[in-house]
Amino acid sequence: EKAGYKHFMAKEIAEQPVVLADALRHYVQDQHLNLPVDFTGVDRLTMVACGTASYACHVAKYWFEQLAGLPVEVDIASEFRYREPPLSPTSWALFVSQSGETADTLAALRYAKEKVAKIVSVVNVPTSSIARESDLALPILAGVEVGVASTKAFTCQLTVLALLALKAAVDRGRLDADGLAKHLADLASLPGLMNHALGGGDYPEIAEELAEAQDILFLGRGSMFPIALEGALKLKECSYIHAEGYASGELKHGPIALIDARVPVIVMAPRDALFDKTVSNMQEVMARHGRVLLISDAQGVAEAGSGCWRTLTMPQAPDFLAPILYALPAQLLAYHTAIAKGTDVDQPRNLAKSVTVE
Ligand code: BG6
Repeated sequence: EKAGYKHFMAKEIAEQPVVLADALRHYVQDQHLNLPVDFTGVDRLTMVACGTASYACHVAKYWFEQLAGLPVEVDIASEFRYREPPLSPTSWALFVSQSGETADTLAALRYAKEKVAKIVSVVNVPTSSIARESDLALPILAGVEVGVASTKAFTCQLTVLALLALKAAVDRGRLDADGLAKHLADLASLPGLMNHALGGGDYPEIAEELAEAQDILFLGRGSMFPIALEGALKLKECSYIHAEGYASGELKHGPIALIDARVPVIVMAPRDALFDKTVSNMQEVMARHGRVLLISDAQGVAEAGSGCWRTLTMPQAPDFLAPILYALPAQLLAYHTAIAKGTDVDQPRNLAKSVTVE
């Protein structure tokens, strides 16, 4: 069942290039998006989910807003419903769930029913309650995910959400055929980039040292901020080490007080338009003797890697897709740190794969 891997989590991390290519084949045909939605007239998207799926929504917010100019609100399901948020009849609500059975997300969906123009869900289990109760359920085609800590479902959720954001951009007149073709070609390159990323990196050695830490911080800016949150969640779930994700620019507004030589700070920073800002936040950490692990591409590592405790070099990726690619080092760090700690990687204590109570 584990196909020669020691854990389902390792198998599911390794499967990502293949399942992501499957999802792309399903939704992209002959340079066209095969998505039965039309965003014309939709003036707002409310996205709701729990845990890792909620971070997929946070990344998608950057895409919908930047590519399609469509305002997006993201909320965790357990807060959404009880806040009694007003929802407009010209908006859509979008629910993301691997299992499709998460009680909080299902309750949020039921709250949104009749209040919005359309309920869309992005799920891995097409027969699930959330899929059945939606106007439209889009499968992520990740295949069965056994490891409690979500990995391949996350990157497949991101892929389907990226395609939806492109569809919204086309429908709203923000993206012409050439622009779409370019983004689709970039997406098609992603499985290859993922294979490359999965092949490199000294993860076991880095993890040996991370396993000694009491607290670990993850920093990211822009669409890399939700990946920092996901990196921290994954590490917490799997290794039981306290970890927090922060927007890099927010560091100086509080968390910098935590920094000393014992605190590893993992900086997720592709060499994009925000890189210099993130590097200056990173230097604030180094000035306080924080141990920085910089995750960037070759150019970023060459420009800013000196003085870092460690670096991990990712393949160069189109800016738009970097968050999908950088999910991989986040997963691998959590996995290898859990191995170094000797925890139950596939079944972390106190967690369940599908949480059907509110
Ligand atoms: C949690 C799982 O309890 O539920 C997480 O441990 C998951 O990995 C979250 O992200 C949401 O689950 P689902 O099935 O709604 O995506």
